[in-house]
Amino acid sequence: MLKIFLSEVTEWGWIQWMFFLFMVSGTCSQGTVHQPPVLTAALGHDAIMPCQLILSDNVKMVIPPVLYWAVLPQESDDDKLWPPSENYKERVDLLDKDLYSPNKSVLFRNVQWADSGRYQCKVSITTKDGRFRRLGNTSLLVVHDTMTFNLSGHNDSLLRCEVNVTHNPGFVLTIFHDGYKLETGDSSASGDSNSSLHFVTLSEAVLLSSDGTYECQLHLNEDLVTTSIFDYHLPVAEEPKDAGKNVSATVQPDKPVEYKEPWHLYIALLLVPTIVLLVLLTALLIRRD
Ligand SMILES: *[C@@H]1O[C@H](CO)[C@@H](O)[C@H](O)[C@H]1NC(C)=O
Ligand SMILES: *[C@@H]1O[C@H](CO)[C@@H](O)[C@H](O)[C@H]1NC(C)=O
Ligand SMILES: *[C@@H]1O[C@H](CO)[C@@H](O)[C@H](O)[C@H]1NC(C)=O
Repeated sequence: MLKIFLSEVTEWGWIQWMFFLFMVSGTCSQGTVHQPPVLTAALGHDAIMPCQLILSDNVKMVIPPVLYWAVLPQESDDDKLWPPSENYKERVDLLDKDLYSPNKSVLFRNVQWADSGRYQCKVSITTKDGRFRRLGNTSLLVVHDTMTFNLSGHNDSLLRCEVNVTHNPGFVLTIFHDGYKLETGDSSASGDSNSSLHFVTLSEAVLLSSDGTYECQLHLNEDLVTTSIFDYHLPVAEEPKDAGKNVSATVQPDKPVEYKEPWHLYIALLLVPTIVLLVLLTALLIRRD
């Protein structure tokens, strides 16, 4: 490898080689486009699709950079998020309206299952020396629906967590009890990933064991996407509950409860020392005699 390299260098000549390296590093250092590898969005909500252009100081743009957001795989020129093609009209907005701004993030409204996929930010820059284009590394947009975390309909000691998500092996559901991760027995991912549904249902269940806070978390790889809390208190016996209800129905809560003077208690309290005194007096009298 090194041999080839060296022989090429010698064949080509040092000056040409240095010039070539200078050109390559020059074009690379002119600028880059950065976008996050993965983005999550809640179904029906808006998502910010970040894209940042980073240009080196010596690059002076003569006209505003031209921005494209491509939907991959790009089947036709109509698959463009920005400038929005017909199917994305009214749904996408540039966040920073300053055309020279390096912030090329767009707001994607009302994200649907079918919007799951890859998006690539592309920026064309024109300087007085010419034009060049920079491509971002693409962002994968994954969608999730609202999580449900409740007692199972058929078995009220079984706590079930369920959420619909874009099919992606990175999604994991975990259930915690007072901060401790629980082993889940009954987990499943159902749904036809090759059907028109575009989503799968993730499901985990645990048996309710003791009081406390149960939490279900949806992670995508290392990132927490959404979470849901279930507070569990051991059910109180039915009767006292009903009795409590009856009482609260008859007692007016606004009126402070009036306590009766416990006269019989006062009398009893007075009676005790009196009796003791009497007993002592009789004892004294008996001894005198
Ligand atoms: C794009 O990905 C390549 C390879 O994964 C990486 O070397 C490069 O730094 C990335 N570029 C940006 C701008 O993130
Ligand atoms: C780009 O602009 C949007 C909207 O103003 C903002 O939320 C985002 O943080 C900006 N990104 C950067 C990297 O400044
Ligand atoms: C609820 O499910 C658990 C585990 O699947 C089982 O052990 C238990 O007997 C069930 N309880 C009822 C009332 O069906």
